[in-house]
Amino acid sequence: MCGIIGIVGTTTVTERLIDGLKRLEYRGYDSSGIAVLDGGTLKRERAEGKIKALETKLGGAALDGTIGIAHTRWATHGVPNENNAHPHFAGRVGVVHNGIIENFLDLRKDMSHRKFTTETDTEVVAHLVDDALSSGQAPIDAFRTSLKKLKGAYAFGLIIDGFDDHIFAARAGSPLALGIGDDEIYLGSDAMALAMLSQKLVYLEEGDWAVLSPTGYKIFDRDDNPVERDITLIQGGPAMAEKGNYRHFMLKEIYEQPETVGRTMTNYVDEFRLSADAPEGLGFAKIDRIIIIACGTAYYAAMVAKYWFEQIADIAVDIDVASEFRYRSPVVSQDSLFIAVSQSGETADTLAALRYCKDKGLRTAALVNVMTSTMAREADIALPINAGPEIGVASTKAFTSQLTALASLTLAAGRARKTISRDAEIRLTRALTQTPRLIKEALLLDESIEAIASDLSGKSSAFYLGRGAQTPIALEGALKLKEISYIHAEGYAAGELKHGPIALIEDGTPVIVIAPYDTLFEKTVSNLQEVASRGAFIILVTDETGAASAKDMADEIIVLPNSDSFVAPIVMSIAIQLLAYHTAVARGTDVDQPRNLAKSVTVE
Ligand code: F6R
Repeated sequence: MCGIIGIVGTTTVTERLIDGLKRLEYRGYDSSGIAVLDGGTLKRERAEGKIKALETKLGGAALDGTIGIAHTRWATHGVPNENNAHPHFAGRVGVVHNGIIENFLDLRKDMSHRKFTTETDTEVVAHLVDDALSSGQAPIDAFRTSLKKLKGAYAFGLIIDGFDDHIFAARAGSPLALGIGDDEIYLGSDAMALAMLSQKLVYLEEGDWAVLSPTGYKIFDRDDNPVERDITLIQGGPAMAEKGNYRHFMLKEIYEQPETVGRTMTNYVDEFRLSADAPEGLGFAKIDRIIIIACGTAYYAAMVAKYWFEQIADIAVDIDVASEFRYRSPVVSQDSLFIAVSQSGETADTLAALRYCKDKGLRTAALVNVMTSTMAREADIALPINAGPEIGVASTKAFTSQLTALASLTLAAGRARKTISRDAEIRLTRALTQTPRLIKEALLLDESIEAIASDLSGKSSAFYLGRGAQTPIALEGALKLKEISYIHAEGYAAGELKHGPIALIEDGTPVIVIAPYDTLFEKTVSNLQEVASRGAFIILVTDETGAASAKDMADEIIVLPNSDSFVAPIVMSIAIQLLAYHTAVARGTDVDQPRNLAKSVTVE
């Protein structure tokens, strides 16, 4: 959360910093700001709200330096207003920060001689460095000694009045990279921010700090020893994802899924041999268990994968949300395979879980969309999903690509462990290769789902029900609806409802039942009837066979094409995405950047 960018160069930086911020806006968008050293003097502009607001303000302000830092914020400490927006100043120092300084209250107490003007944890860093400068320390020492006093997670960019050809940077727990240009050095939260500036990146490692000047950079490790870090050449030029003719990125990304799911598959599936491959290093034949850890939507992909791996590859799978896993001292065996699932590859809790299992000696894999991410770099094996940049904050195409990759890995595990016959392998692989076509057909339902969404948009609460591998799709449906439409929604395993939540069903309560025609169909339909008889407004999401058998039991019905039950979770996902999208549009919310959220959650 929070994006930072910095440039120390030879030509004016303001416009390029703003451009970089726009690429980072997905990391948070409740306020933004920029600071430059203009003729050696610190100047800044900040604004509440999206980066557009900062641009408007800058229209009237001349910020004209060749060195600057900028920030887009997702508030942790302090309300998201202009005063709490970064960069924070104290005396000669300006700083931008991504992370949380956990001991900021203690540090503030220690500096009672200082006047703090914001509610943020970050301001304390500017004061620490300025205090050290005032006591006569050289800038590099002031920065270095201040870092030693901090507890928590951070990525910093820091500039000092009167010291106008240096940016100081540090990384501990939050990602940070340097970009190398001709006569310029850049600083950014990720490759996305730096892509238009440089394709030569240096990723700082945990505990590293650095001093950047137009002619070069020096990196030091956590013990202050000078170190060399590899230069990574990144692919992809300055192009930023565009919405094209779509009203929102989310809709564009929903529509991209026939292509993105197909692209994911090319990493794992041989369409001619009708089998899937996985990197040898995963050791599917030998492991005793898989531990899959993730957050949010990625966790629901992991939950579907548990059904797949257990049913098809006969292997025990533990899943957990990363924020719980990391703090419950999980017992893990060295014969287990750990898989982190993460679109961004930067989610703080998932990364911590990966590090925990790596330290315990497990083989680790990261299934990610961003192959330059920290998880991809730190795991033993990086598994791509190749869905392309996902800009909409609500995950759609990354989810179906995660599912596709996990389904492919399941088939590879089944073959390696000899738990499926060749016939079954052919049938399941063929079913998987048909998903792009099935998704295309599902997208034809867009208009009819929009009509149903208009009814749903007037409601204040909704339930989603599913069974088996459709349970996670029900949970994901509820998450999609609440995060972009702000309608309260709960997803449940259909059999759980009568153990309590059914008390909430009253006349007109919308219940979205996800029930393709599979072995659990009849059971789910019984649960549907239990809520229908209590007045629920039923929206049945099923396939053609299911519709033929249960259409009279629903108030509204969404009929997807028939598919093998193995891939039905992927196909059903399209309906719940479109339903949430159109409901949000009908309610007039900010679909691509819903309130309070950020695309990449780099604080725990
Ligand atoms: C919801 C959503 C989030 C993410 C979660 C994990 O639509 O996108 O729940 O899935 O924050 O993010 P990654 O996958 O980047 O680790």
